[in-house]
Amino acid sequence: MRICLTAVCLDFVQGVGADSQGVMSKRTARMMEEGSSSRHNISGGSQRSSPESTRSLRSEDLSVVNENGRAYPNDTFFMPCDSQEQTRLSILHRVFLNALGGQLTTAPLPSTIERILDVGSGSGDWAVAIALEYPGAEVVAVDLAVWDVEAAEEDAKQRLDEQGMHDVELPEVTWEIADLDMWGPVEHVEVTVEEGIEDEHVAKSVTGLNTQEGGKGRANSVQSNRSSRRESWRRSYNPPSRRGSVNLGWNFSEPFDFIHIRGMKGAFAYWTGVYRECYANLVPGGWLEVVDFQYHIAQPDSVMREVFINFHAVASKSGYPVTTTHLQREFFEAAGFEEYEMIAIDIPLGAWPGDDENHTLGKMHLVSLVESIEATALRSMTKHAGFTKEEVQERCGDVVQELLTGVHDQLETSFRFVRARKPLNDDK
Ligand SMILES: C[S@@+](CC[C@H](N)C(=O)[O-])C[C@H]1O[C@@H](n2cnc3c(N)ncnc32)[C@H](O)[C@@H]1O
Repeated sequence: MRICLTAVCLDFVQGVGADSQGVMSKRTARMMEEGSSSRHNISGGSQRSSPESTRSLRSEDLSVVNENGRAYPNDTFFMPCDSQEQTRLSILHRVFLNALGGQLTTAPLPSTIERILDVGSGSGDWAVAIALEYPGAEVVAVDLAVWDVEAAEEDAKQRLDEQGMHDVELPEVTWEIADLDMWGPVEHVEVTVEEGIEDEHVAKSVTGLNTQEGGKGRANSVQSNRSSRRESWRRSYNPPSRRGSVNLGWNFSEPFDFIHIRGMKGAFAYWTGVYRECYANLVPGGWLEVVDFQYHIAQPDSVMREVFINFHAVASKSGYPVTTTHLQREFFEAAGFEEYEMIAIDIPLGAWPGDDENHTLGKMHLVSLVESIEATALRSMTKHAGFTKEEVQERCGDVVQELLTGVHDQLETSFRFVRARKPLNDDK
């Protein structure tokens, strides 16, 4: 499979790839073999006159940041980009697929679709799968981090083999490295932990974040230490200042028929700007799909809820809220989109469902959550709220303990799939 590289990638890979503890080793080797002839502007289209006209990263901008034993793609994104995270993303991809009964998207795509963009493509599983489903389309997958996308390709190939489809060639995906974050007026920063959390109990307790003593939750194995540990979470937050540099926009060389954004809450500071870029980079009649999820944490006095609330508060104050506010209709309409539709599907979390299908799904979902708890909280809470790695790990260990001992049985996650369309008559 061809891997299209920006010049940026090559410089980056040759400079720091071998030292990082991320997942880039395989892809690094491949990139270096392919050599310096692979020079592409973002999305591989026509050459631009000025390198300043693209948001593709320059080599000096890219480096993997190692913190607390995890590798991160930059200084701001809260999730790591190492092999542990890649595995989690691949598991979660199967959960997303399952939520849609095996479908990759809710957007009504024509079989003749020509160009598809996957924003924040992560492990690459979705991009490889959509390329297989639409072999005539050019699929461009963009991410801030270098992932082992060959693992996704090998996995897809293996699945084809298992189905006896030995002759089917994997279509090419164009893998690009770029920072697609946008920033602008500080309109989305102080969001709304309440809006994001939705669960009535959780929302109420957010208001009293620093004083709440907890309710009368049921006793369990982690209950005894809770009061003293709760104290340690009452600290003031120390959010970083927002960036103020010029924002150049995405500037892809050709528009897309479909843009897909999944699991990106907390990745973008300014969703209004991101949706504007989506709109500008779609053909008239093109579809945007944005997918994310939100937990309904019913246990009023659980460590999980407490960690969750604190994490939400820190994320909002850091300028990168982890709510699903960006899925609301107003955001899409403000950018010019029409035909907004949201599909919400509740997926069980844990092995509690009685029927086989949901039991397996819930277990798979649980594995991905257990893998994500520490990964999600570690950077935010150490960097922006002054906790030590050990404190965060201890707390996250308690959450895992709750999950494994059934404290959160009946827990479900609301997966939301939003699709919206650029009007057919807008050829701007
Ligand atoms: C939670 S993962 C989701 C991955 C994938 N969309 C999926 O559903 O499996 C978020 C991804 O967004 C990428 N990302 C974060 N900030 C980004 C940015 N500013 N520009 C491009 N990608 C970004 C991360 O590197 C990571 O791969």
